[in-house]
Amino acid sequence: MIELAFSILAADFAHLADEIARAERGGGTIVHVDVMDGHFVPNITFGPPVVKAIRPVTKLPLDCHLMIENPDEFIPAFAEAGADWVSVHYEACRHLHRSLELIAHYGMKPGVVVNPATRVDLLVDILPMVHHVLVMSVNPGFGGQKFIEFSLEKIRRLARMRQEMGLAFRIEVDGGVAHDTVARVVQAGADLLVAGNAVFGAGEPERDARALLAAARAAANEQDS
Ligand code: DX5
Ligand code: ZN
Repeated sequence: MIELAFSILAADFAHLADEIARAERGGGTIVHVDVMDGHFVPNITFGPPVVKAIRPVTKLPLDCHLMIENPDEFIPAFAEAGADWVSVHYEACRHLHRSLELIAHYGMKPGVVVNPATRVDLLVDILPMVHHVLVMSVNPGFGGQKFIEFSLEKIRRLARMRQEMGLAFRIEVDGGVAHDTVARVVQAGADLLVAGNAVFGAGEPERDARALLAAARAAANEQDS
């Protein structure tokens, strides 16, 4: 099933609850929360207090993408704030297995993220314990960047690994997912689409979420038929 995880990084922060409601009306089913610490990535965004603030305004799962160093130190705070899914970067975790176990221990769905330069094959041993794998299709840190084309091959590789290993983790793609790229992303095997600017950039999140999802689902059907 293809789902849209809309990234609130591109939303109007002064009206976050309203922006979430509008993207949800357009068919978005996951709230993607980009957490940046100014160390792992060259930008700072928000943390557990913002997760806590949006928790009561939506029933949708809150998908927290931690672009931070030492994520283990903050996992309890995200759980407390009401996060549902938490993903950590392969590149930020010295003991990735432990970090994933910690996320699950706090009752959240663990995910792992790989930067563009990180091979998905490195994940083979931990794939059985993840709920989702997030393939970065831009270098993390900013919204509105250009989609990196070789991400498509990584998605295809990961989809093959999933099938060969008989697993059911979701494949999420993040960065530059928009009208010009979404069909290829879906046809490569992704099922969770993160989109920031393509949903919120024009100030019409309901309309634009709906259009992006429609394009994604049309591409998936085209492939099936
Ligand atoms: C980048 C973030 C993305 C970002 C995507 O570091 O992880 O989630 O918000 O933005 P767009 O969809 O605008 O490329
Ligand atoms: Zn993200």
